[in-house]
Amino acid sequence: MKKHTKQDRPSSVLVAKDGRTVEEIRKDFPMTQALEHGHPLIYFNSGATSLKPVQVLDKMDRYYKEYGVNVARGVDKIGYDATKAYEDVRAQTARFIGAARPEEIIFTRNTTEALNLIAYAYGGSHIAEGDEIIVSVNEHHANYVPWQELAKRQGAKLVLVKPDKTGQVTPELLEEKMTTRTRLVALFHVSNVMGASNDLEALAEVSHRQGAVLVVDGAQGIVHHPVDVMKSDVDFYCFSGHKLLGPTGIGVLYGKADLLRAMPPWQFGGEMIDVVGDYETTFADIPARFEAGTMPIAEVLGLGEALAYVDRIGYDFIQAQIALLGQRMVEGLEALPNMEIYNASNYRNGVLAYNAKGIHPHDVAGVYDREGISIRAGHHCNQPTMRFLDVQSTLRASVNFYNTLDEVEHFIEVSKKAGDFLDVLF
Ligand SMILES: Cc1ncc(COP(=O)(O)O)c(C=O)c1O
Repeated sequence: MKKHTKQDRPSSVLVAKDGRTVEEIRKDFPMTQALEHGHPLIYFNSGATSLKPVQVLDKMDRYYKEYGVNVARGVDKIGYDATKAYEDVRAQTARFIGAARPEEIIFTRNTTEALNLIAYAYGGSHIAEGDEIIVSVNEHHANYVPWQELAKRQGAKLVLVKPDKTGQVTPELLEEKMTTRTRLVALFHVSNVMGASNDLEALAEVSHRQGAVLVVDGAQGIVHHPVDVMKSDVDFYCFSGHKLLGPTGIGVLYGKADLLRAMPPWQFGGEMIDVVGDYETTFADIPARFEAGTMPIAEVLGLGEALAYVDRIGYDFIQAQIALLGQRMVEGLEALPNMEIYNASNYRNGVLAYNAKGIHPHDVAGVYDREGISIRAGHHCNQPTMRFLDVQSTLRASVNFYNTLDEVEHFIEVSKKAGDFLDVLF
């Protein structure tokens, strides 16, 4: 692996809010020490899920070892401790995204479940025949299929908005699609293929002018940008813990309190009720109304630790490190004649979508894999964007703040090798 000299090694110079360099930060992430096919693992698939720091793993471990009981069920001290820890993360999450109150935070399994919850509970009660739902053609399936299905169930119309060529849905493009029948707009914060960011404040303003609500898929957005739901005035914001240093199995749905209160529950059972009569039941207030059954308690606590970790290192560092790596990655791949990059000029947020000309991305991904580099190949749960780019599938390299310039250099060398090797093969 090529080593940088001290002078051309700016990644070491970048310092996180807690005063540490990336080399020090990497010690928190056990998987940075993992091997793949005998090579040090270079993990360039953070768009799929992030690596997890030991602080998150330890927090979950301590819960199971020290106070691993159910929440909101016991009147004993240990039950109180578990419930308090769980509810503290709700309040912490509200502060993290600038929500007005903790009860506006609903814990779900992931972004997908949060979006489905909105489609069922809000959509089922607020979208009527002939109403219009707007989605972009650069949405992940999680923010696309639930709206297709909702439109079918309610007899509503799905209206598609095409982003500009950088992949961004501008307020002007949204405005063109808005009508007096538009009731709901569902858009990504950051695209998982093109890396484009949407301006949430401007999009909320356009949506609200026609009385529509704005649902934001923040699965990728919150990884790269501080979120302030009150300032941007979005109505719903959804994200997954596992892309933001947290565990799998935990997601967050933020909704404005008045909207959540106007929604019926979508799952029924323990803890979401008020009074259960023989034939009729009344339901709990938010957030309990939307958290039926035993919740993923350890995962909620892990999420809290992940958010604390992000607070400690700071978004300024996250953005600067990712920008540095991304810039070099684009430069390096652009210099290779057999690589076609789909978002080179508008590269953002650590995501690079590209292909080796004429070669199936799965074959190329196999070459990277044998060299210890993990990237993604396929349609990235985003067939609409594949149609937008007019391709079947792509390679996707996605970096995070725990990656290094040395890793990027090795990635570029292997990209070159992959091209040459495949030239010989095909
Ligand atoms: C933009 C976007 N939305 C939604 C999702 C779905 O997230 P999850 O699988 O955690 O529900 C993803 C995951 O890749 C994503 O990138």
